[in-house]
Amino acid sequence: MSKKVSKIGVLTSGGDSPGMNAAIRAVVRTALYNKMEVFGIMHGYTGMVEDDIIKMDGRSVANIIQRGGTILKTSRCMEFMQPEGRKKAYENLQKRGINGLVIIGGDGSFRGAQTFSNEFDIPCIGLPGTIDKDIAGTDYTIGFDTAVNTALDAIDKIRDTAAAHDRVFFIEVMGRDAGFIAVESGIGGGAEFVLVPETKSDIDLIVKSLKNLRKSKSSSIIVVAEGDELGSAETIMKLVKDQIQDPSKDFKVTTLGHIQRGGKPTARDRVLASRCGMAAVEGLLAGKTNCMAGVMNGQVVYTPFEDCIGKPKPLIPDHLKLIHLLSI
Ligand code: F6P
Repeated sequence: MSKKVSKIGVLTSGGDSPGMNAAIRAVVRTALYNKMEVFGIMHGYTGMVEDDIIKMDGRSVANIIQRGGTILKTSRCMEFMQPEGRKKAYENLQKRGINGLVIIGGDGSFRGAQTFSNEFDIPCIGLPGTIDKDIAGTDYTIGFDTAVNTALDAIDKIRDTAAAHDRVFFIEVMGRDAGFIAVESGIGGGAEFVLVPETKSDIDLIVKSLKNLRKSKSSSIIVVAEGDELGSAETIMKLVKDQIQDPSKDFKVTTLGHIQRGGKPTARDRVLASRCGMAAVEGLLAGKTNCMAGVMNGQVVYTPFEDCIGKPKPLIPDHLKLIHLLSI
């Protein structure tokens, strides 16, 4: 039986997401409220392996709730994947008496935490920090709402110029292997088509619809998730263009890229991050480990890492129907 957690380390790992700072703030302040000591581990697991660990107090997290990025920095650490790297990491925690960890990141980060806590008996709780929303055990992930709103703002702007020039725009959004950002920004942005990895993309349907474009609409927006099975927005645009064979049609591609990862977190992301941050510390105090604190149906829930890692999260079928139905 491990002893009560009294000194915790907090780190951000994998791709940054807006709201990570709000989560760090909540972890630090909840821990201090509960008379625990808190350490910030820099650059994700790299800081654990390389002993880049700083003591944190209430002021270390002042004035960060509104900032994108992560004050603790982040990385994807190869050394931590090796047993020797994890042993070094453990020794660095031991030096300071750190006996609990909060990991803010995606499912790859949770995989590392699970292996580590099984090997060294350090309780670990994860928080879902990724713009992709691709983690089971939580309805939303920290950063998703901000990323969708960033994409939406870009789509609105592109729509202005698309309409002005009667153009067809293919807009590529992030999401790795998941189509959540594409679907929600596509619905919000009134896209004619949204192509996602979860469903087979139908080029013939797009071609047919665009051939009739002049008769019905003057411009079109097609949102492409970066993980779509047909390839990038550029590739898909070329496939469509080759089939349409109409020099009067003007096709453009915009790849939104890392702009989706930055910026001020929305209220929704700040609240989610704050709730999950508090829940992580309370979970550690209650003896929980190897699980993620998320929010489902408005309630904080703890889901074992094994049920979060590598579990595909389905798109909401109604969302796909909406796009099709509203694009006439
Ligand atoms: O997982 C977040 C994410 O932004 C994905 O949407 C994207 O595929 C990937 O990270 C990009 O990674 P990197 O920042 O290493 O280019």
